[in-house]
Amino acid sequence: MTKKSLIGVIGSGAMGTGIAQVAATAGHKVLIYDNNLQAIERSQGNLRDTFNRLTEKKKLTEADAKEISSKIVHTESLTDFSDCSLIIEAIIENLETKQFVFEEAEKIVTADCILATNTSSLSIASIASACTNPKRVLGIHFFNPAPLMPLVEIIPSLATDDNCLKKAKELIDGFRKITVIAKDTPGFIVNRIARPFYGEAIRIYEEGIADIPTIDWAMKEKGGFKMGPFELMDLIGNDINYKVTETVWQQFFYDTRYRPSLTQKRLFEAKRFGKKSGRGYYDYSEGAIMPEPKKDKLVAEKIFMRILSMLINEATDALYYNVASKEDIELAMTKGVNYPKGLLKWADEIGLEKIYVVLKALQNEYGEERYRPSVLMKRMLDKGEKFFI
Ligand SMILES: NC(=O)c1ccc[n+]([C@@H]2O[C@H](COP(=O)([O-])OP(=O)(O)OC[C@H]3O[C@@H](n4cnc5c(N)ncnc54)[C@H](O)[C@@H]3O)[C@@H](O)[C@H]2O)c1
Repeated sequence: MTKKSLIGVIGSGAMGTGIAQVAATAGHKVLIYDNNLQAIERSQGNLRDTFNRLTEKKKLTEADAKEISSKIVHTESLTDFSDCSLIIEAIIENLETKQFVFEEAEKIVTADCILATNTSSLSIASIASACTNPKRVLGIHFFNPAPLMPLVEIIPSLATDDNCLKKAKELIDGFRKITVIAKDTPGFIVNRIARPFYGEAIRIYEEGIADIPTIDWAMKEKGGFKMGPFELMDLIGNDINYKVTETVWQQFFYDTRYRPSLTQKRLFEAKRFGKKSGRGYYDYSEGAIMPEPKKDKLVAEKIFMRILSMLINEATDALYYNVASKEDIELAMTKGVNYPKGLLKWADEIGLEKIYVVLKALQNEYGEERYRPSVLMKRMLDKGEKFFI
């Protein structure tokens, strides 16, 4: 399917609009449907602003911007999607609503149309189960903002046909995105492996080991992360981040290792969503003074090693459970959340033994499942193996 296709996008919110822009920029014609007229108008306005900005910044010529935007057509009728080769659904994160939309879409499209969902947290199997032909259903998970974030996770369900997976991957590769294949498991790759970046940072803060700016500083200073965990949570939105954490935890049958924190729940309840609401872990109101970190190198090292060891453990476990290949795990974390290095390569560099010792010490001290080292880590240590070398 390398030729230009007609792509259908269902849902003209933040993600749907971004995905439409990406597909049109890659030369495809795009239909975008929403059941809310205001959302359609907002999407049209947002796209106009985006293309104006891109031409002002000379990232696109006026002619190119005109051509790309002319490829995107908004519609209030799903029946217009009858000739689409691929449909990407990006509506609200609600299983029943998504199942209903898939059922409706399947009545309209041709037999070889691929049906994809951009869900962050629902299982692809549960959405596909609403379809008569679940072989053509899979997850195509873009990151926000879709035009800027290079990574796309492609998630076949139990029923997805190999040919459908191959065609979908080819098409999204053609969108100039970096694609990785993930197993249909909670959080897929990125939203699973990244959990401790937030959760362990909050835990360190709750225990009073360091304050918020110090933890953020430690991860940037020692780890080279572009943003600290609290800065990033405030950017993502504590409403979104809390919901993802809660869903991953629930879907892992309440495995305590993924348990959300009360600190973040309270922020969510108080509507301290972060930058977008003017207040999160930090105060973004005019004139507010950003608190300074306490730059103690020893504390920073302790914080960094604790969070990094948890991240490496999660990446190792994801590999052990075949959530993705090691190459795709590395790509996902560097291209999906901008980590400065792949976590498995990082483990090779630091030495798996050192990571294991940190985890074991935490496990002994706290007596919590949260810190159990992955069985793969233990086996690799016994054999003296590395991930890549
Ligand atoms: N926002 C993110 O950071 C992000 C990142 C990756 C994936 N996702 C996933 O993408 C999907 C969309 O998220 P979003 O942030 O764009 O949401 P959003 O709220 O911005 O947009 C959702 C749109 O869906 C429309 N809609 C709702 N029900 C509909 C229906 N039955 N038929 C047609 N349109 C309908 C709404 O009118 C709205 O315009 C969700 O599944 C979300 O989990 C979101």
